[in-house]
Amino acid sequence: MSNMPSPDQLEAEILRLKNEKNVVILAHYYQEPEIQDIADFVGDSLQLSVEAKNTDADVICFCGVHFMAETAKILNPDKTVVVPDLDAGCSLADGCPADKFESFLKDYPDHTVVSYINCSAEVKALSDIICTSSNAAKIVKALGDEKIVFAPDKHLGRYVSKQSGRDDLVLWQGSCIVHETFSEKKLLALKVRNPGAKIIAHPECEDSILRHADCIASTSGLLRFVVEDDATSFIVATEAGILHKMSQAAPDKELIPAPPEDESCSCNLCPFMRLNTMEKLYLCLRDLSPQVDVPAEIREKALRPIERMLEMSF
Ligand code: 13P
Ligand code: SF4
Repeated sequence: MSNMPSPDQLEAEILRLKNEKNVVILAHYYQEPEIQDIADFVGDSLQLSVEAKNTDADVICFCGVHFMAETAKILNPDKTVVVPDLDAGCSLADGCPADKFESFLKDYPDHTVVSYINCSAEVKALSDIICTSSNAAKIVKALGDEKIVFAPDKHLGRYVSKQSGRDDLVLWQGSCIVHETFSEKKLLALKVRNPGAKIIAHPECEDSILRHADCIASTSGLLRFVVEDDATSFIVATEAGILHKMSQAAPDKELIPAPPEDESCSCNLCPFMRLNTMEKLYLCLRDLSPQVDVPAEIREKALRPIERMLEMSF
C-alpha cells in the first residue's frame, strides 16, 4: 500500500490524523483488538448509533460494517462518514434486498414493520421502526397487539417472539452466517468438559444454541454479564472479537469461544467485520475515503424509524 507508515508508527499516525481532522473513531466489539484499542468508543449497535448521533466531531470513522456507517450518516447528513473498507457488508443486510422486501410487505399491508438495524438504508426506509438486539423485545412488547412483520433475522425474530409472548410475528427468513456456525453437539461436549462454565449467547444464534444459554443478550449485554455474574468461566457463543473487551473488563475470568461446526475454520470471526484493518484505517483517515453516502430521498424516509427506536430505547 502507498506510503504506509512502518508498523511501529502506524498507531501514532492514526492518532495524529484523527486529531488533525477532528475525527471520532467508533468501533464495534467485533473489530480486531488493535482497532478496538485505538477507537474513541467501542460498543454494540445501539450504543454506536447513540454515539454517532451525539458526536460533535467533523468526521465519523466507522469501524464496523456498512449498515452501521449508513445509520450514522442518516443521523448526521452534514458530517463526513468514512469506513476503512466499503466492502464490509453483512449477510443479514445482503439477504434482504429492498425490492424483494417491498414486494413481501405487499402481503401484509396492515402490519407494523419492525426491522433489525442489520439491514440496508433502503430497507430501513420501508420500515416503521428499527431495533437492535438490545431493544428488540422491548420495542415489540411496546407495540401491544399491533400486527408485526419482523425482519430480516429469523433467529432474533423467533427469540423476540418468545420474549414478547407473540407467536404471530411474520418473520423474514434471513440469518447471520457467523451466528449460524455454532454446533449444539460440540457446545454440549464442551460444557461436559467445563461443567462450571456458563453458556452465553447472542440472539442471532439458532434456537439449538439459545436453548442451552444462561444468558442471551446483545454484545454489550454479554459483556456486562461476564463482568457482573459470579461464575468464573463462560462459553461465549458470538463473534470472537468480543473476547478482547471481556478479557480486559474481567481479566480473572475464563472465556471459552463456543465451537463452530467445522473447527478448522475461523467461522466465529465475521468475514465482513474483519475486512477492516489498521492499515485501511490509516488510509481512510489520510484520504477521508471511502465515504458512505445515503441518497436524500432514502435518508429522509429512514430517519424516522431510527429516531423512533432511539425514543423507545431509554
Ligand atoms: P450487537 O452488537 O448490537 O449485539 O449486534 C451484533 C451484530 O451482529 C452486529 O452486526
Ligand atoms: Fe452481519 Fe453476522 Fe457479521 Fe454481524 S456478525 S455483521 S450480523 S454477518
